[in-house]
Amino acid sequence: RALRPFHGPHQSGVLGDPLPAATIVAFDLTVTGRSGLTTLLQTLTTTIRSLTAGGISPSPGITDTAGTGILGPAAPARALESVVALGTGVFTDAFGLTTAKPRHLRAMDTFANDQLDPAWCGGDVLLTLQGHDRDVVTNALREVCRATRGAMQIRWKQDGFTSAPRPTGHPRNLLGFKDGIAGPSPTDDKQMNSLVWVDAGEPAWAAGGSYYVMRRIRMLVEFWDRVSTSEQERMFGRRKDTGAPLTGGAENSLPDYGNDPNGNAIPLDSHIRLANPRTPKTAKSQFLRRAYSYDAGVDSVGNLDMGLMFGAFNADLDRQFVTVQKRLADEPLVDYITPVGGGYFFALPGVRNTTDFYGSALF
Ligand code: HEM
Repeated sequence: RALRPFHGPHQSGVLGDPLPAATIVAFDLTVTGRSGLTTLLQTLTTTIRSLTAGGISPSPGITDTAGTGILGPAAPARALESVVALGTGVFTDAFGLTTAKPRHLRAMDTFANDQLDPAWCGGDVLLTLQGHDRDVVTNALREVCRATRGAMQIRWKQDGFTSAPRPTGHPRNLLGFKDGIAGPSPTDDKQMNSLVWVDAGEPAWAAGGSYYVMRRIRMLVEFWDRVSTSEQERMFGRRKDTGAPLTGGAENSLPDYGNDPNGNAIPLDSHIRLANPRTPKTAKSQFLRRAYSYDAGVDSVGNLDMGLMFGAFNADLDRQFVTVQKRLADEPLVDYITPVGGGYFFALPGVRNTTDFYGSALF
């Protein structure tokens, strides 16, 4: 698909569905003071803007690579989508931003079944870059790091990917199921305004932004691969081959709970039924899912270390993600997945034009 433009009321990587190559990187700020933070956000803007425009990236003057860029000259134009988001640590006295904090922003909650590793949690800045090509994404991250060295330091980093749709439709996650089927539509402005972009209860500068939840969820794949397909399907509530709900239809069909009140077809404790029971009361807890698979090699006892970088954009963190995550507590799937990291962030409003920069309305 054609990639979204850099400039606009919202950042390009929020509504764009996941692309084959992504990197998700959390940074800690090393910069101090308000003016240092402003300069960092301006540098991030000029760097990502120019990487998105393609061509030759500007030399930050650290090394003499002007004209060649880190991974060679002439990055392709419009090959990158991005999201820059801030963690709660930015909204402190140190930057004069205490009163600017989005209402719900805080350190990530620990939920039932979480086994969080602090080294994989939190961060002051979350950068998500995605594109069709791994090398474009890697090059972009290195240019960002080069331009911002001295102002922020990588805290954790996880590359992600999406599979090609097989045979058609949505990509499959590493448990083998089609993922990202149900949910609000990015082309429906009314839904985006009520479910993704923050509402008027937030500080004015935040308009056009969104709460961005990132969860690093390990999958215990060796264990999963010994479970029968029908049992796997009952845990999710959809078919593994076609992606269709177990109440019938095709991949894009919605589950028909009205005709399955006792959960004979789709168990009451299945993933999709708990996550979205589709009652009038729960409609407002839907959010925009943006997930990538990850493969982190092998753990210390020889098991595959892989899983899902689960991303979610929310107008209201507590009404949406937190509510849904609590409904999923102790779902049967928890025996096969373990959240190990992540954080709550605020995806900044879009950069509107060539003179604007990330978070400009904060200052
Ligand atoms: C739906 C997998 C974690 C919320 C689905 C579906 C699959 C899936 C296969 C059905 C297809 C679809 O509609 O996209 C997974 C896996 C996870 C995971 C493998 C972890 C490794 C989560 C978490 C949340 C969540 C942490 C929220 C807290 C949802 C929602 C739906 C969904 C809201 C759509 C339900 C509907 O509207 O019918 N997930 N998921 N998932 N999942 Fe997950």
